[in-house]
Amino acid sequence: MRKLLVTSALPYANGSIHLGHLVEYIQTDIWVRFQKMSGNETYYICADDTHGTPIMLKAEEENISPDDLVNKVHDEHANDFKEFNVNFDHFYSTNSPENKKLSESIYNTLKENNKISSKEIDQFYDESKAMFLPDRFIKGSCPKCEAEDQYGDSCEKCGATYSPTELKNPYSVLSGTEPIRKKTLHYFFKLSECEEFLKEWIKNETLQPEAENKLKEWFDMGLQDWDISRDAPYFGFEIPDAPGKYFYVWLDAPIGYMASFKKFAQMNNLSFDEFWSKDSTAELIHFIGKDILYFHALFWPATLNYANYRTPSKIFTHGFLTVNGEKMSKSRGTFITARSYLDHIKDPNFLRYYYATKLNSSMEDLDLNLDDFVAKNNSDLIGKFINIPSRTSGFVSKFFNFELMPLASIKSKDALALLEKIKESKKIIETYYEAREFSKLVKVIMQLVENVNEYISKTEPWKLSKDEVQLKSNSSLHEICSVCLKSFRMISIFLSPIIPSLSEKIAMFYGEASFNSFALIEGDILKIEPYKHLLKRIEQESIDLMLSSNKES
Ligand code: 2FM
Ligand code: ZN
Repeated sequence: MRKLLVTSALPYANGSIHLGHLVEYIQTDIWVRFQKMSGNETYYICADDTHGTPIMLKAEEENISPDDLVNKVHDEHANDFKEFNVNFDHFYSTNSPENKKLSESIYNTLKENNKISSKEIDQFYDESKAMFLPDRFIKGSCPKCEAEDQYGDSCEKCGATYSPTELKNPYSVLSGTEPIRKKTLHYFFKLSECEEFLKEWIKNETLQPEAENKLKEWFDMGLQDWDISRDAPYFGFEIPDAPGKYFYVWLDAPIGYMASFKKFAQMNNLSFDEFWSKDSTAELIHFIGKDILYFHALFWPATLNYANYRTPSKIFTHGFLTVNGEKMSKSRGTFITARSYLDHIKDPNFLRYYYATKLNSSMEDLDLNLDDFVAKNNSDLIGKFINIPSRTSGFVSKFFNFELMPLASIKSKDALALLEKIKESKKIIETYYEAREFSKLVKVIMQLVENVNEYISKTEPWKLSKDEVQLKSNSSLHEICSVCLKSFRMISIFLSPIIPSLSEKIAMFYGEASFNSFALIEGDILKIEPYKHLLKRIEQESIDLMLSSNKES
């Protein structure tokens, strides 16, 4: 049995969860559920990412303390995840005593290991607000084309990239005043000294090939030391022995993975060291988006290594979500929050299934095409998958007292071949789950669903039901329906990680508590419960309403 600690990236505590975020949480959750169903000791750990300037300013804007803001958002996020069946073993916060302690001790060890330096740097400073400005809080005119109101790093009009010092007429986004340049002491993690270690670390297929190439590019460009401090006022952890200096949010955020696990381990009598010590044999796996690869594949393993902890076993990186082929957009209403999906579409299984049909192990972007989303779900899940029990369960309840024929009594060649084919698919399905090839795996499963539907069309049980003789025991009607319902159960077990709450309802239909193991397909099933409606079609109207509710002018 493997031991796995799996994480998804920590969402910022200053905004709502949206469908872009959910690509990753759903991808990770499916993978984790698969691992658990396979009998591996697996913990899915997450937390809110609570520190930094944007959160401090957002709290100011809402006239509440940053602590109150992060608590409020934590509740919202936790509810959203729960309703999408994203089943963290622990969803904590980086603003926790465990995280403070770990961040301080990691920093101290890095210092002991001579991996911290300090130097004075020149920064933009807003005198009216008495604070240093992060780059994205400075705007001005593009130095190339003079377009106004451009950010400090690049021009949206002409595409030029530059540094904030090159902006013409720079101003602070916070006050509108012209920022001055001011010197301040900053602390750095000496990433420039970590190249050899990192080159060794990636040797073990730690990264996907595309990510590995990216790292090689970064190595070629030369690794720069990483600025890990920010000046007060800042919402975060103060650096030990450096009054008025705080850890940059990206220093304590990934440590939040450890802190969340630490708290979880305490509550559940698990050993923290077994998962985090240098000699740990557990696997540490991070799911992330491609925008934060730099942090997870350079800073994070180097930090862990020189703080005397184990390093990640795998970093699984995915691409971005587009909606209808374009970047999510507030004006088009495609910047869809998790909450508005739940309000309008309601059932999370549809999104989970749709994402699964699109996800693979690459870093390519994936598209949520809303027409396709409606068509695919209605056709695959309702027209084909749910079609199986809805066409066969009625006969079993009406004529056979809810009883299914035992496997041993099933005689027809076609029926046995069908059941055998489904059983045999388990191996390839498990391989695809493990490899995160969800789209391939859904194809295999949908092929099985098609096979069952073909079997139904060929055997025409509705015709047999009219024939008195057929209704006696050992009839072919009984055999046909039993085979279909045994098939449906096995397929539902395969699909369970993707559509967990639907699969729970299906388990109940068979009088079972849940489908918590792939081994369950080996058992025979002899009884069903009365069939209750499982899933409602998606109507175009609810999509339209969802889009208009997300539209901002
Ligand atoms: O990019 C983000 O949304 C970050 N909040 C992710 C942090 S992941 C981890 F390192 F904490
Ligand atoms: Zn420009």
